[in-house]
Amino acid sequence: MDALVAAGPPADLVSAFTRPVPFAVTTRLMGLDGDGPDHLDERRLRRWTLALLAQGGEPAADHGEALAEFTAFTEELIERRRRAPGPDLVSRLVRAADQDGGIPPDALAFLVLGLTASGNESVTGALGNALAYLLGERPEHWPRLADPGVTEHTAERLLHFIPLGDDEATVRRAAAAVELGGVTIPAGAVVAASLGSANRDPAVHPEGLDADLARPLGAPTLAFSAGPHYCIGAWRVRLEMREALHRLATALPGLRLTVPIDRLDWQLGSTTRSPAALPVSW
Ligand code: HEM
Repeated sequence: MDALVAAGPPADLVSAFTRPVPFAVTTRLMGLDGDGPDHLDERRLRRWTLALLAQGGEPAADHGEALAEFTAFTEELIERRRRAPGPDLVSRLVRAADQDGGIPPDALAFLVLGLTASGNESVTGALGNALAYLLGERPEHWPRLADPGVTEHTAERLLHFIPLGDDEATVRRAAAAVELGGVTIPAGAVVAASLGSANRDPAVHPEGLDADLARPLGAPTLAFSAGPHYCIGAWRVRLEMREALHRLATALPGLRLTVPIDRLDWQLGSTTRSPAALPVSW
């Protein structure tokens, strides 16, 4: 953020803020910010992420090659952390998997790969969508984010009401018969539960996104699901969203979009969908 402020306006908040901030957190968390074979640069992670999430329309010609590279990098990384663990999350996951035993190596590799690529991309997407909405639709609210209490509730409301991707349903198989809203779901039935619809249920959340963003949500959000598969990155995206919005609004209270919100270019995808660029000035 210091670099963004020092360079002065105009700027693109995607290349100067919503990509580098989560990337710095991801690489620090996973221990990929040092030198040597573990070093991960932003361009390489971006290529792998586009391949993994099949973002941006047609899969690129080197889709398979990029995925194979990413898998090989992750498997070698796991081996190195097994031999020489550090304080990073990869080392802790490897240790926990080895202590538990019976975790298939490809399941561990897929978790590390997902935490690195999808984790990074989802925070970039959530931040970009939040900034597009705040600067494009709610400019009056922007300077209020200098108050950390306001930012906490604003971040929760934005994560709750703005879906990260296509807002498609989560598919589950009912382990036992259950009655929901007067309907009996038999054991073994496949159920498509839409977390986004639940979050917009007017009986539970009568206020929509247009309400005062400084007010606490009236009921807990389902944006991160519930139960044993509850999102393990929820703490991360909440913390980064709060810190990023609060610090940016404190440093640049006059931040504004330089194009109308309906003229923004978008990076489309089913998992995450967010602005491709956010041209701003202050
Ligand atoms: C706005 C951002 C995010 C949203 C809306 C989100 C949403 C979700 C949802 C709804 C689930 C449950 C899926 C299911 O029930 O099958 C989930 C699971 C998961 N999330 Fe997130 N997530 C976000 C960010 C992150 C981040 C930043 C990370 C990692 C750093 C992460 C890692 C995971 C993992 C590993 C799971 C699987 C958990 C399991 O199956 O036990 N997520 N996420």
